[in-house]
Amino acid sequence: DNTKTGVKGLVDAGILKVPKIFIRPINELGHNSESNLNDFQIPIINLHGYRDDKQRRQDIVDEILKASQNWGFFQVVNHGVPSSVMEGMIKGVHRFNEQDVDVKKELYSRDTAIRVRYYSNFDLYTSKAASWRDTLTFKMLTPDPLNPQELPIVCRETTIEFTKHITNLRDILLELMSEGLGLKGNFLKQMECAESCTLLCNYYPICPEPELTVGAAPHTDPSFLTILLQENIAGLQVLHQESWVDINPIPGAFVINIGDLLQIISNDKLKSVKHRALVNHTAPRVSIACFLSTLYDVAKPIGPIKELITNGHHPVYRDMLLKDYFDHFASQGTDGKPGLD
Ligand code: SIN
Ligand code: FE2
Repeated sequence: DNTKTGVKGLVDAGILKVPKIFIRPINELGHNSESNLNDFQIPIINLHGYRDDKQRRQDIVDEILKASQNWGFFQVVNHGVPSSVMEGMIKGVHRFNEQDVDVKKELYSRDTAIRVRYYSNFDLYTSKAASWRDTLTFKMLTPDPLNPQELPIVCRETTIEFTKHITNLRDILLELMSEGLGLKGNFLKQMECAESCTLLCNYYPICPEPELTVGAAPHTDPSFLTILLQENIAGLQVLHQESWVDINPIPGAFVINIGDLLQIISNDKLKSVKHRALVNHTAPRVSIACFLSTLYDVAKPIGPIKELITNGHHPVYRDMLLKDYFDHFASQGTDGKPGLD
């Protein structure tokens, strides 16, 4: 029953040490970030003018392609989502987590079929150690729009508004990425590869010994595309040239990353890259990851887009069923999984 109060429940109970189950092997931790040394930073892409100006649009398409190939990650600014909506969503997730534990318990479930639920450590029984985070998840568009009445009252309005804007931004990104791949602008949209939207609202409580654990272990995302909103608190890192690089929060920006499924259909042209989240001892941190994916139809075949297998390009992946991919993903666990290798 302890797990129902989440990691935050432990912190509220006043623990001063990280319980054993959360402690990661020392060789996995190495909180090194080379960002300061090398001035590494994921690209920041300004979407302003993408619709009006042909040259401007081409430049943005090129930047997105390059970032998706070299980093698998980039940030976008001037993306059209009002900052009030972004701030409202972050505040809503704080409100949910910081309310009375009995209210949260009502939504507690480990059943992945449930569309609105609260849990801690989805991989609790399969991973080597637990992660320092609680999650509230909403399957907003899988397979049909979620009935808003199912959303917790403390963040209902804001979540509906946020999702509307996220699906707009998704459509813009799919267009620009289609063009970057040399396909027609509506190609990815027509493939229906990002029709479902699952929000993972992460809450990383203050941690008494942040150097002993992680908020999210290294992983790649099992989505097509992820749009991430992070609070203005450091923690997210991406693996780049074998070092962990901080993804510095920029107020008003979204972090965009390529998921495994987009790496597969783009025939490895776009990269799904490992990332992780660290925790800290000064403030709780909220992030909202919007997993955009195909409607969950396990019998759906996926494989490299045929139009990309031309001029001596060979398919890197065989065609498979979505089920094969998800089975593979589940069998890897999250700790140090090799991803698509
Ligand atoms: C994740 O990708 O699982 C977490 C991202 C974050 O909290 O910044
Ligand atoms: Fe992730």
